[in-house]
Amino acid sequence: MVKIFQHPLINAKLTKMRDKETTHNEFRQNLDEISSLMVYEMLRDYQTKPLVVKTPTGETFAGEQLDKEIVIIPILRAGLGMVNGILELVPQARVGHIGMYRIEETAKVVEYFFKIPEVPKDSYIIIVDPMLATGTSASDAIYKLEKLGFTNIKLICLVGVEKGIDKITAEHPNVDIYLASKDEKLNENNYILPGLGDAGDRVFGTKK
Ligand code: URA
Repeated sequence: MVKIFQHPLINAKLTKMRDKETTHNEFRQNLDEISSLMVYEMLRDYQTKPLVVKTPTGETFAGEQLDKEIVIIPILRAGLGMVNGILELVPQARVGHIGMYRIEETAKVVEYFFKIPEVPKDSYIIIVDPMLATGTSASDAIYKLEKLGFTNIKLICLVGVEKGIDKITAEHPNVDIYLASKDEKLNENNYILPGLGDAGDRVFGTKK
């Protein structure tokens, strides 16, 4: 399943992030906020289990809580920029990390870090990476998590293109993809057009 959110706030914040005049602190702030909004929408697709609480009036209330552990897994480095916004809404979530970089000329992905919390295999795994370009890093990350036995994996990206979406849906049909926008295409360096540039550089202010 591929879901592209249609929400005025998400669209407005993404437009601000696309603007090349937006500074890295504004970019980061908007990424925080958009990540919260996206995970709020995404959580509609999760289940709850009963939770009975006693209220200060002395009554009991038959309520609910999320039925499984949540693990956020940013793909380093740009994915880190989405973690805080998600933790704002789900502070109980655990955080794993997958470090990968892409060799620009070949689009080959090199993994340099992999650390995932010890949780039940049916936990809700949320992989986050702002850009779904060729889909190679996200797909490799999903292969590793599937090999470890995780069965409940979702991918949240801000901006994706057909190529990346097709790769994930073909190779991982059980993984749902959530996007704020589907953009037109990739350029010759596998950057998304119109896109927002290098998400990692823009989050961390590593380039002028
Ligand atoms: N990664 C980025 O940071 N930007 C793109 O446009 C594509 C991949």
